Amino acid sequence: MNGEEILSKLSKIEIREGKERQIKSYVLRNNVLSDKEKAVVLKYFDKYGFFFEDEKIDYRKLFGNDRPVIIEIGFGMGDSTREIAIRRPEYNYIGIEVFLTGFVRLLKGLGDDGLENVRIIRFNAVDVIEHMIAENSVAGFHVFFPDPWPKKKHHKRRLMSPEFMSLLESRLVPGGYIYMVTDWEEYAEETLEKAKEVEGLSNPFYSFAPPVAWRPVTKFEQKGMEKEYTISEIWLEKH
Ligand SMILES: C[S@@+](CC[C@H](N)C(=O)[O-])C[C@H]1O[C@@H](n2cnc3c(N)ncnc32)[C@H](O)[C@@H]1O
Repeated sequence: MNGEEILSKLSKIEIREGKERQIKSYVLRNNVLSDKEKAVVLKYFDKYGFFFEDEKIDYRKLFGNDRPVIIEIGFGMGDSTREIAIRRPEYNYIGIEVFLTGFVRLLKGLGDDGLENVRIIRFNAVDVIEHMIAENSVAGFHVFFPDPWPKKKHHKRRLMSPEFMSLLESRLVPGGYIYMVTDWEEYAEETLEKAKEVEGLSNPFYSFAPPVAWRPVTKFEQKGMEKEYTISEIWLEKH
């Protein structure tokens, strides 16, 4: 694919046939790349980016090795993604995000740092996981500060539904984990409860989990802490 084709494809999020009415956990705000962003894409997309395809990813082909794979859903600006990839280099990471500015920002960060163990895709995570990720193939999922959709009428947009958690469970290897962090207490409580409905998942901590040492505090989280929001950590495992 040439540079123009990559730029054009990246600026569109294709709606897959028959999926138009799927409830989305995100709202797209911007699909336009600035000249600076275009330059970043032309420089780094080939190495770090990939597009949606209706076929399962061959991890060895994507990363060039057989390290276990962690998937991060909704990486935002990608600060945690980069930091965790540096702190835990024994894993490969696939980052999924629809937010174009954040996608390009992480592309630049990965290229500037010369990281080898991260690949990223701009698409709806639900579709990527359903269509591109094989069953029993993922060591862990990271879901940091998913949109809380605070209004009751929007709760159905929340990502961490029992159906979605069940999809994640099906993609995990036995012993694999789902690690969610949120500053929205009610969403956290709801997720803990809903996780109990998901066959195959268990909560080794019974309630909230202690923080792990390798997750950095993001700017977004810092803002929450300044407003004295509680940070809740949820750690679930496939048994
Ligand atoms: C509140 S932000 C948090 C970003 C980041 N994880 C952090 O901790 O700063 C949630 C992000 O999830 C992304 N998102 C929500 N639903 C998504 C989906 N279905 N597929 C991909 N990204 C999604 C949004 O675009 C947004 O950038």
